[in-house]
Amino acid sequence: MVNYKDLGLVNTREMFKKAVAGGYAIPAFNFNTMEQMQAIVQAAVETKSPVIMQVSKGARNYANATILRYMAEGAVAYAKELGCKNPEIVLHLDHGDSFELCKDCIDMGFSSVMYDGSSLPYEENIKISRQVVEYAHKYDVTVECELGVLAGVEDEVASEVSHYTKPEEVIDFATRTGCDSLAISIGTSHGAYKFKPEQCTRDPKTGKLVPPPLAFDVLHEIEKKLPGFPIVLHGSSSVPQEEVDTINKYGGNLPDAVGIPEEQLREASKSAVCKINIDSDSRLAMTAAIRKYLAEHPDHFDPRQYLKPARENMKKMYIHKIVNVLGSDGKLG
Ligand code: G3H
Ligand code: 13P
Ligand code: ZN
Repeated sequence: MVNYKDLGLVNTREMFKKAVAGGYAIPAFNFNTMEQMQAIVQAAVETKSPVIMQVSKGARNYANATILRYMAEGAVAYAKELGCKNPEIVLHLDHGDSFELCKDCIDMGFSSVMYDGSSLPYEENIKISRQVVEYAHKYDVTVECELGVLAGVEDEVASEVSHYTKPEEVIDFATRTGCDSLAISIGTSHGAYKFKPEQCTRDPKTGKLVPPPLAFDVLHEIEKKLPGFPIVLHGSSSVPQEEVDTINKYGGNLPDAVGIPEEQLREASKSAVCKINIDSDSRLAMTAAIRKYLAEHPDHFDPRQYLKPARENMKKMYIHKIVNVLGSDGKLG
């Protein structure tokens, strides 16, 4: 049993309280590779932002759970080496799909876990969420649960259509589970194809898809029911069109990829939304930089040559999100 406090990590409790009161959101960036970890830490240190580094079940399968845990421990040491005296880094399990997976992460030093029972019947979701909360709280690990279904792929759970969170259920759910934060469905979705073309309109000038707006009315109803309670948005990549265009220009094929407009995420950050999950934008930033570099340097084959601009591009994107979208810069301490 490893306690996250011994690794220099923090849970989300204080972080979220301050974010809700201060009208900003904490970035939750997924990581699978060393370059993503380095870019996240560099961005957080340079902007003096707290940060959540999250690991999906897929990331554990790809990179190995132990390695990712040591990378998070290394992230704390790296942040200090970069000059940050008291980094606030959360190591979070993203979309945990069983009590056992959540327990395994808690036992190996995660400071926060998500139990995602959103695809289960309501009572079953409450039952397992409650079990995870009871175990996690013994070790002062915070727990995110989910109510409502996002369209798209949620790790191993795929859903064609989204079901908005029902505001009339949130008090009962939060009370009976004892969760520390609640992920809700208000129109975001996972991946780089968040909406089908038929759900969007088209910008007549650019020909690009314009997605339907988020359901702010549902968010505000939920806030009224649970004043000050930390709310989480998944599926919040904005799928920057310049990255999509670069990928397509250099041999990729991502037609009609579309995300959540950043102004809407900025708006949500000012409310009780205090954690915003971004994964796909990091994948796009990395892939765009690598495709461009390799197309321009066909004779290069040292991974460090193309991973360096990839890391730089991800860092630029993380800084942009922190400063211009979530507003968590300067909020350390
Ligand atoms: O919500 C899903 C995250 O983007 C993680 O994706 O399961 O492919 O690692 P992944
Ligand atoms: P995106 O696919 O929009 O980046 O969402 C990531 C996410 O919600 C991780 O849990
Ligand atoms: Zn998610």
